[in-house]
Amino acid sequence: MNNLLITGGCGFIGSNFVRYWLAQHPESRVVVYDKLTYAGRKENLQDLWDLPNLSLVVGDIGDLDLVRRTCQEHGTDLIVNFAAETHVDQSILGPLVFTDTNVRGTHVLLEVARELCIRLHHISTDEVYGHIRDEHQSVETDELAPRSPYAASKAAADQLVQAYHITYGLPVTITRGANNVGPYQYPEKAVPLFSTNAILGEPLPVYGDGKQMRDYAHVYDHCTGIEAVLLRGNVGEVYNVGTGREMTNLEMVDIVLSALGKDHSLVRHVADRPGHDRRYSMNVDKLRSLGWEPKYDPRQAVAEAARWYAENRSWWEPIRSGEFREYYEKQYAERLAEGR
Ligand code: NAD
Ligand code: TYD
Repeated sequence: MNNLLITGGCGFIGSNFVRYWLAQHPESRVVVYDKLTYAGRKENLQDLWDLPNLSLVVGDIGDLDLVRRTCQEHGTDLIVNFAAETHVDQSILGPLVFTDTNVRGTHVLLEVARELCIRLHHISTDEVYGHIRDEHQSVETDELAPRSPYAASKAAADQLVQAYHITYGLPVTITRGANNVGPYQYPEKAVPLFSTNAILGEPLPVYGDGKQMRDYAHVYDHCTGIEAVLLRGNVGEVYNVGTGREMTNLEMVDIVLSALGKDHSLVRHVADRPGHDRRYSMNVDKLRSLGWEPKYDPRQAVAEAARWYAENRSWWEPIRSGEFREYYEKQYAERLAEGR
């Protein structure tokens, strides 16, 4: 595992993982393979591009020839697949690209991995389990019951990855992450959206009653969880990665506002997301059995993330004043006008 192809390495979790992995494994060679969509930003790794063991290939994971050529040229022995369309609200507005990238793109990576005998680690999400009833915590053997176009595309990808292990014996592993928070998360997601809105003194659009529950995990703990699976996980297996503790969105909002010293009057309840999953919750004992423990509890994770946005305005201000505005108008203008 010395020659890694990290797809989606310019996105939020991918860039945090590249940074973490190179710090822990400086002998590794890493190729970031990324299409640089609106969510992929080269500057997320600005301070690292001069390293001799890090390089970037700009391309689509659906481009079989380019993926194959890149793996051959770099002697790739491990693909870690972060590349995806990742936002539920975007999947409601325009779902087809989610199938193109998340399903077909993952399938192309599997085909190249099969042809060149490469191990593949796939990054999945707790959303594949669907809405979780009270008291239950998803375990890795639970049936998949996705409910949004995003979640359905991720579940389809998980099943392809498992099918390649069963059918062809391809060495694969999967991690299913909880809602991640931390540095470099594109401000369409709830915690960076609420943090940057609060900093700007703009309203925080809370969907519905705000009592939906999520496990907000620090991206650092996701990175250490993936590392544990790569180093000590069993091939063919799935591992949940989260804190195992959830909170309501209203609690998350309170933590963001108090970390930033802002007033609760900024909160607006707006029209709910169609098909909004009420609760995600995962049991993470299987990952713990590999000797992994999360460093952050969810409250610390959210507060620390909110403060990062206060301290790094130069990262997100150009995003918010650029193409993001068009999306924001489409997604929120009417909702906020009717909100309370
Ligand atoms: P992100 O949206 O911040 O980044 C996605 C990256 O993938 C970007 O760099 C983008 O340019 C790249 N990409 C998109 N389409 C591509 C394509 N066709 N070819 C090559 N590159 C492409 O996403 P993220 O939040 O960092 O999520 C990374 C992975 O983790 C995804 O697979 C996601 O489903 C999963 N995940 C995310 C969360 C979360 O809370 N953000 C939680 C659990 C799992
Ligand atoms: P999000 O970050 O989009 O992650 P996911 O939908 O994948 O869990 O949203 C986290 C929670 O916050 C989710 O319950 C939806 C809610 N939410 C809002 O209330 N308002 C918003 O503007 C956004 C983006 C999310």
